[in-house]
Amino acid sequence: MSRFAKRIETMDGEVRKLKVLTESLVNAGIISFAGGAPGKEAYPFDQLREIADEVLRPGYLGYESLKYGSAIGMPELREQIRDVLLAPRGLKAELGEIMVTAGGIQPMNLLSQLFIDPGDCILVEKPSFVHTSMIYKMFGARLVPCEMDDDGLVMEDVEAKIKEYSPKFIYTVPTFQNPTGVTMSLERRKKLAGLAAQYDVIVVEDDPYREIRYSGETLPYIKSFDTSGNVVLANSFSKIFSPGARLGYIVADPAIIDKLCNIKLGTDTCTNTLAQCLAAEFFRRGYYPEHLRRLCELYRSRRDAMLRAIDASFPEGTRHTLPDGGYYTWVELPACLNASAMKGEIAEKLNICYGDGSIFYSEGTEPGSGTNCMRLNFSGPDEETIDTYIRRLGAFFCEKMEAIK
Ligand SMILES: Cc1ncc(COP(=O)(O)O)c(C=O)c1O
Repeated sequence: MSRFAKRIETMDGEVRKLKVLTESLVNAGIISFAGGAPGKEAYPFDQLREIADEVLRPGYLGYESLKYGSAIGMPELREQIRDVLLAPRGLKAELGEIMVTAGGIQPMNLLSQLFIDPGDCILVEKPSFVHTSMIYKMFGARLVPCEMDDDGLVMEDVEAKIKEYSPKFIYTVPTFQNPTGVTMSLERRKKLAGLAAQYDVIVVEDDPYREIRYSGETLPYIKSFDTSGNVVLANSFSKIFSPGARLGYIVADPAIIDKLCNIKLGTDTCTNTLAQCLAAEFFRRGYYPEHLRRLCELYRSRRDAMLRAIDASFPEGTRHTLPDGGYYTWVELPACLNASAMKGEIAEKLNICYGDGSIFYSEGTEPGSGTNCMRLNFSGPDEETIDTYIRRLGAFFCEKMEAIK
């Protein structure tokens, strides 16, 4: 008998998939379109050097920055979240409804600790983000995928599956979804908040990409249509500030926040206070709008370079999403091309790796789902690299197509 807890077995498969993505981020020899990290030009080094010098002085925020913090997080940072990230996007929240977390992934762990018993069902998107699937599996959840189209989750399918499976919660990445780049429409956001109230089911809105928009109009949070207290917003500073700072937050009903704080105490006590001080000061000093403008400009041209190169070089019959923001496009190759099976050969011959589409499908989907698909990340490599390597990838797939004919 294994000495490890039973839940470790259930997460093994998802962990293997996740490692493919994370290992590509640290392998210097390979051009990675697989990851999900900010470009190295995207970090606010100058501002943070200046802030760190002032923060790390006794009497300023020095003491605050190095001592233990509270489980709910520093008021200074929660105020900035409320005033800079939520209120201008139409979401009114009290400080008691905002909790700081260690990155944007931790909310899914804390929420699973709060809501999930082994065997409980969670509705997820098809395809869905593999890292969060791993966490849900770790808690013994059964994942039930729901249909998506160009407007995000299909509400008829969600409602039918709420009735069939009585899920503990519904997990969605509504804006520039990971992995597809698709955004949920306004109507569906309202509808989902309505379903949360009607069926008394929790909706977890995971929204780390929403600020990084290149085209189209900003849409309200699902949370802003919440009338029942059943919508929980999870967010991250990783894409707009620094992933290494490990900062994120949850916006939820105070009764939920209260329980999550107890769980946080039993998990890691509090979030890194130095990182909280640096981020709070960054936002308080008004550096964010210009920083965000710069990020959007940088990534917009990378997105355009990637879509141009795919259109110019991939085999006829290839389809891809047209993301208005975020980090990814989702590519569907002609069905005869198995991107999943070819990834080893491509890494070896072309020095390229990508998010193999099949890893974003959990159990409950048809076998072979996503094998002709890829998640391509455009935030990391520069435009020239994107153009060169995406065209090489396209030429490789065209040769394979020719050989099949
Ligand atoms: C859908 C989604 N949720 C949450 C996160 C947040 O991750 P982190 O814990 O790095 O802030 C990410 C980052 O890749 C993501 O893609």
